[in-house]
Amino acid sequence: MKLFVTGGAGFIGSNFVRHILQKYPDYKVTNFDKLTYAGNLDNLADIAQGERYDFIKGDIADEAQVNEALARGYDAVINFAAETHVDRSIHAGARDFVLTNTLGVQTLLDAVRRHDIKKMVQISTDEVYGSLELEDSSQFTEDTPFQPNAPYAAAKAGGDLMCRAAFKTYGAPVVVSHCSNNYGPYQFPEKLIPFFIFKALKDELLPLYGDGRNVRDWLYVLDHCEAIDLMVHKGVAGEVYNIGGHNERSNLDIAKIILKELGKPESLLTFVADRPGHDRRYAIDASKIERELGWKPKRDFATAIRETIRWYQEHTNWVAKLEARKAELNPHIK
Ligand SMILES: NC(=O)c1ccc[n+]([C@@H]2O[C@H](COP(=O)([O-])OP(=O)(O)OC[C@H]3O[C@@H](n4cnc5c(N)ncnc54)[C@H](O)[C@@H]3O)[C@@H](O)[C@H]2O)c1
Repeated sequence: MKLFVTGGAGFIGSNFVRHILQKYPDYKVTNFDKLTYAGNLDNLADIAQGERYDFIKGDIADEAQVNEALARGYDAVINFAAETHVDRSIHAGARDFVLTNTLGVQTLLDAVRRHDIKKMVQISTDEVYGSLELEDSSQFTEDTPFQPNAPYAAAKAGGDLMCRAAFKTYGAPVVVSHCSNNYGPYQFPEKLIPFFIFKALKDELLPLYGDGRNVRDWLYVLDHCEAIDLMVHKGVAGEVYNIGGHNERSNLDIAKIILKELGKPESLLTFVADRPGHDRRYAIDASKIERELGWKPKRDFATAIRETIRWYQEHTNWVAKLEARKAELNPHIK
């Protein structure tokens, strides 16, 4: 198969590109990425020289660029490209989020139709569903109504709804996933887990929003990649699949695990003013993809989080290069 992966220079996209090239010796992958502050070609340095991989710098919201690239002929489009940082969508403005996460998705849908591509997988988030209460045991299902609270989540919901409309109107061969929080190697250090690891390694305070009790359902990134792999090959057009780790943890618990693993004291924990509109709890019912596509998360959290922490400790060059770019490219990192 020839896959057109958008946003492949980011965290999950780069893990997915590597997963595909390693698992399928005859597949080819084109990585189409705008290289925003979050795009990092170093994430794919180990496979970039191979003949089965190529890179195109481009914007999914730019019709001409997308059409020129897709005219080369592909079997499937897998869209990871997005503005992804909730805090940026609040503090730096939501315009870029709407352009990429909504208009960019529509641009891909139009191009998929024009070039008669047989499958598109839209990677989305559980954040479109809004927030759950801490106190109950409810979970998001594929039928939970969209109630996004952050501009990031609303812009993702816009893209997902355009996918639904493209399927209902034109029979577009599009499949949408809603996944919970991912962790693993190559994640940009504005996100909670690498952010806390880097803070702890430097003996700096780990700032927790509010009371630190906000809960996320954490999934190892390669488990997510395996779910997407199944959606590419077996996902049914027009269907939506929730993906989650059955692994709810508070931000405070995550911070404590990182400190313990790195041998740092809990006195590095500090509580700061809450994020506006901060969702309290996310939890995913992933029974549909388990039942219909045969997916299950394989990695045990205790082991995978330890390996993830070790990966950041061992990849000091990767970290140092990002640190050098931080002030220039991401003024909102904190
Ligand atoms: N990280 C998570 O925990 C998580 C959970 C669920 C869903 N998701 C979704 O998975 C996808 C990937 O997330 P991530 O954490 O890897 O993101 P990321 O921020 O690490 O990477 C995003 C990538 O998209 C690229 N990009 C941004 N705008 C673009 C555009 N207009 N055209 C082309 N490329 C563009 C960036 O350069 C970057 O390489 C996103 O759609 C996100 O909503 C992420």
